[in-house]
Amino acid sequence: MRNGSDIDSSPDNTPVIPQADVESRPRVTAETMAAKQRDISVSEFFAKNRHLLGFDNPRKALLTAVKEAVDNSLDACEEASIVPEIWVHIEATGPNRFKVGVQDNGPGIVKKQIPLIFGKLLYGSKFHRLRMSRGQQGIGISAAGMYGMLTTGKPVKIISMTSEKKPAHYFEIQIDTRRNQPEIINGKGDGEDIPAGEKGHRYIADHGIEWVSHYPSPGEQSQHLRSGTRVTIELEGRYVRGRGSVDEYLEQTAIANPHVTIHYVDPDGGETTYSRSTTELPPEPVEIKPHPYGIELGQLVTMLKGSHAGTMSQFLTTSFSRISPGVAQRICEAAKVRTRANPHRIGRQEADALYAAIQNTKIPAPASNCISPIGEGLILKGLHHQLPGEFFCAATRPPAVYRGNPFVIEVGLAYGGASPTQKVTLEALAELLQESDARSLKQFLLTTFDGIGAAGVEKILTQAKLGTRQTPAKLKEEDIAQLHAAMKNVNLSEGQTMQVLRYANRVPLQFQPAACAITQAVTATNWRAYGLAQSRGQLPVGPIRVMVHMASVWVPFTSESKEAVAAYPEIMKDLRLGLQAVGRKLAIYLNRRKRVRQEGERREVFLRYLGEVATAVAAIKDSGDRSRKQLYGRLVDIANRKTAVADTKLDDRGRRIEEAEADFGENVLIVDESPLLQGGARIAPGEGRKS
Ligand SMILES: Nc1ncnc2c1ncn2[C@@H]1O[C@H](COP(=O)(O)OP(=O)(O)O)[C@@H](O)[C@H]1O
Ligand SMILES: [Mg+2]
Repeated sequence: MRNGSDIDSSPDNTPVIPQADVESRPRVTAETMAAKQRDISVSEFFAKNRHLLGFDNPRKALLTAVKEAVDNSLDACEEASIVPEIWVHIEATGPNRFKVGVQDNGPGIVKKQIPLIFGKLLYGSKFHRLRMSRGQQGIGISAAGMYGMLTTGKPVKIISMTSEKKPAHYFEIQIDTRRNQPEIINGKGDGEDIPAGEKGHRYIADHGIEWVSHYPSPGEQSQHLRSGTRVTIELEGRYVRGRGSVDEYLEQTAIANPHVTIHYVDPDGGETTYSRSTTELPPEPVEIKPHPYGIELGQLVTMLKGSHAGTMSQFLTTSFSRISPGVAQRICEAAKVRTRANPHRIGRQEADALYAAIQNTKIPAPASNCISPIGEGLILKGLHHQLPGEFFCAATRPPAVYRGNPFVIEVGLAYGGASPTQKVTLEALAELLQESDARSLKQFLLTTFDGIGAAGVEKILTQAKLGTRQTPAKLKEEDIAQLHAAMKNVNLSEGQTMQVLRYANRVPLQFQPAACAITQAVTATNWRAYGLAQSRGQLPVGPIRVMVHMASVWVPFTSESKEAVAAYPEIMKDLRLGLQAVGRKLAIYLNRRKRVRQEGERREVFLRYLGEVATAVAAIKDSGDRSRKQLYGRLVDIANRKTAVADTKLDDRGRRIEEAEADFGENVLIVDESPLLQGGARIAPGEGRKS
């Protein structure tokens, strides 16, 4: 009663209704309202709520379209056991308009499915099964197509080939949003068939259809494409590099998918190839049945109604994983339901009892072969292949379970190496500045480069002698050169904050870090215990990148746009343990590095004074130059012995070469020892510096 907009409350809380208003208002009855009540099509719903799917602004829309297509390609290739080769081509077709083409060498799609997959929302092969994959809901690619159609009026174009010997199919499709149905535009509503072989190549060329028919991979033999799919979407978007960009997505995808090669042409015509570092495909995840602990009462009732099983025992053993006939019997006994009872005849109360019985019966944890983690070895390979660094380590946790869904947490860590600001070329920096929508130079640096932090920005700008408030796009050429030089020279490793790469089922998560369980677990970890500086509740400081991967048959995202992982306690716990595992390895490395450096410094000090000591002692003993030399030699020997740690050489696993002790455990990679690791120079007796 209270907050009605045209109802005022008098002091004693009796509503005072202004008479005139009510009389002039048309009367709405249940009948007139009924005339307006109707079905809402999913496509209409998501066209209005496009932000739910990641199309909230032009910049993100471009990324989301690429991402949906690439994720599908990777899923399809892996499911068909094909080592994935992917082409991504983004072309500017007008101001704020882009044509996105993504092609794969996957299994292809059969003709009659193409219109449904690309022209109907909520249509897919992954929603109804429990198997680890990138896609889940069946809205991804069709929503991208719909967004393109709504913003540019252009249809989605698909070409797909299932075999070299069969014709390929070419479709131009629009979504009828009111009915959530595809509308085929070309070939009189039937699509076009492209003949196999040479004739087909000519057809493709004559009709201006984009298609890559063979691929030269660096270091591999040129191959003909045997099958594959290419989708082209024209959409309104914005292309910006840096954080949350297509470029970042592709780079991070390459890290977590070391078996993939991606050929990327950006809107400026720049070509980048992310080459695979292994041809080994991830082990094929097995599809599983739901685990009984993860089921809800309503779901159980639906399953009972829809079951084809003749008896309760059969229903339980075939609908769920980990229920043996013995367990089924125990559940039935506890619920006071006969094992031979017909599942269709189970009443509401019996279902309640059954549900309670399931929760109270001991049932083994779900099998974990439905998940295929990246594995420690390949995480190291991926990190080392794509990121700078001197120390790498990885940890894959044993499988765990949340709400009945098995999952695995993996963590990789890269320490040291150049910061992203040091990698950028002068040309790229000029382009980045031009494209940026940041209002100030400070904002530009903060949003474009990961992990430099406000202190790093200050340092760079002071050295470049530039103001923080300048507009990035208006920088003069010499200012850009100065900025570039400062970015190269300023040592950011102290002020740099940890960069966190988040992944769910091998897909990089680029938005909403604060809402994500992964970031929360990273900031909640006490990194000071591992030798890093960290303020409470913040990311630690240092040249460190951490990648965290959650693999599961069902990743609990906080929204449909799949940007952040929900913080279930079981997931938080495993994240914590995974982070601690790499933290401990990092601590061993940092400690050892510190000791080597300290001993090196100690030796320097010794050597600085030994010459003088030898001269003085010789003078006291009055024993001439020869014995001074001998004495000096002996003192240097002692100094070298006392500071022997400074000579420690570590092998590529971080073990001391001479001792080869395995205290790091498995899966650590130490690249190129930094100068610090080499300790003080070892000086042979007799050649000592005289002071
Ligand atoms: N490039 C492709 N190659 C083969 N099949 C594909 C490809 N893209 C999509 N599909 C099929 O289309 C379905 C729908 O894709 P999508 O709308 O992205 O939903 P989701 O990936 O969530 O299932 C997928 O489940 C898959 O079976
Ligand atoms: Mg998908």
